[in-house]
Amino acid sequence: MKDQGLVILISGRGSNAMALVEAAASGILPIPVHAVIADRPAPGLACAASKDVDTAMVPRSAFPDRAAFESALAETVAGFRPRLIALAGFMRVLSAGFVRQHADRMVNIHPSLLPKYRGLDTHARVLRAGDAEHGASVHWVTPELDAGPIIAQVKLPVHDGDDVASLAERVLAQEHRLYPAALALLLANPVGDRHETSNDTIPPVLDLDFNDAGHLRCTGR
Ligand code: GRF
Repeated sequence: MKDQGLVILISGRGSNAMALVEAAASGILPIPVHAVIADRPAPGLACAASKDVDTAMVPRSAFPDRAAFESALAETVAGFRPRLIALAGFMRVLSAGFVRQHADRMVNIHPSLLPKYRGLDTHARVLRAGDAEHGASVHWVTPELDAGPIIAQVKLPVHDGDDVASLAERVLAQEHRLYPAALALLLANPVGDRHETSNDTIPPVLDLDFNDAGHLRCTGR
């Protein structure tokens, strides 16, 4: 089963990582989670261990520079021989070299409807802009931050009276549905080695365009 699984990189609580672990256990995600790896003492590591998932820590603070850290991280990831690497709240910008080394195998979840709101503080920025709609995106990782081809999105309305906390909570709940479903989608619908959207296509949206088994519906959108 090596070469067929998922390795998840986290920096914090790891709720998306746990959603992926649970989806693999229930069969929604059609590949196993081989390991959860953190760049610091992240609470999500204990959650993963409690579900009998292998864990590892490659602390950034233990290395003199980014190159040395990334080399150790690449070696640790390679030890689990993953089919896919999922970033889930991994709070480091990876170098172009690391990204190229893992091309077509590394995805990320971002709490906005990309290409809107790359980077941090997405919920506050959505509220400030007065947007009626918000959501989350799963995308391929490319050297430019949060700019890779979008695999799938989930959308939800912004409510009157929403604040950052309420919006963040509702988006996170949808992220936990989106990430496993998006990975199932890309594994079920490979285009060459990757399922991606080009600039002139609309990314598939959870509940509208595909189901949890990763089957695209013919919606005619
Ligand atoms: C999520 O909102 C994810 O989209 C973003 O960082 C957050 C991580 O949360 N990249 P968690 O650690 O998965 O709970």
